[in-house]
Amino acid sequence: MIDKVEFERRLVTSVIGKPAGGENELWESIDSTNTRAAELAAGGAPEGTVVMARQQTRGRGRMGREWISPVDSGLYFSLILRPQKKLADVPPITLGVGVAAAKALFATAGVEVGLKWVNDLVHDGKKLGGILAEMPANIKPQAIIIGIGINVKLNPVDLPAELKDRVTWLEAITDAPLDMNAVTAELCFQLEEVYNALMQDRIERTLDEWRALSVTLGKTIKFASGGRDRTGTAVDITQSGALIVQTEENGQIELTGGEISIRNADGSYC
Ligand code: BTN
Repeated sequence: MIDKVEFERRLVTSVIGKPAGGENELWESIDSTNTRAAELAAGGAPEGTVVMARQQTRGRGRMGREWISPVDSGLYFSLILRPQKKLADVPPITLGVGVAAAKALFATAGVEVGLKWVNDLVHDGKKLGGILAEMPANIKPQAIIIGIGINVKLNPVDLPAELKDRVTWLEAITDAPLDMNAVTAELCFQLEEVYNALMQDRIERTLDEWRALSVTLGKTIKFASGGRDRTGTAVDITQSGALIVQTEENGQIELTGGEISIRNADGSYC
């Protein structure tokens, strides 16, 4: 179980989880740690502030989806960043966060995580976690809220039928209990490494790490565009994190948002 004192004792960071003049929060239950982090940021909370919860009652995923967040079943984590650069110049932060999460899970749980563009953490073709980066327009000075959800020990009864075969969790993979405090502290360490690299214009290294962890590149993918499904081959990512797709009808195009599905060997998409 996540414990604030134990988590903070394990931190080896300078800023992330160690907000200057501020405090991290751990909630027994909250609507959404991202919503709470945005509130704190609007009130002036410093960079590095972490909000965690044992349960979320209105956890949010991308594309307006719900993030199912039962008690002690996942890592529900949000972080306030206040980059000095203009938002348009903030490099591919979601991809960098994916790299950090994958490295943290390998270091602490031995789990090999694949990165599906743009924000999914996957294992064996199933979703293990996701990232929701938000930049609320009303917050001055600007802040980015990085939300990370990682499934730790879900009970299949908590999952809707359509997700049961598409989702996995750490303890199902490792068959062993997980030290959430160690995972979360390592996640902060890896996030700080990636954030420093991105802010200091060492972007290419992070992009190369993403490429190495990707389960997307080289695959046939399906995506929605112009009101219909299209297919192509994912060939690379750009410096700003867009996905370069080779299509038959339009040559190379760049996807900057939305969602993709990856074609399996049997022709189905996941
Ligand atoms: C996705 O894959 O769609 C992104 C999921 C992000 C979920 C996390 S859990 C902690 C934080 N609080 C939220 O409400 N969402 C993010």
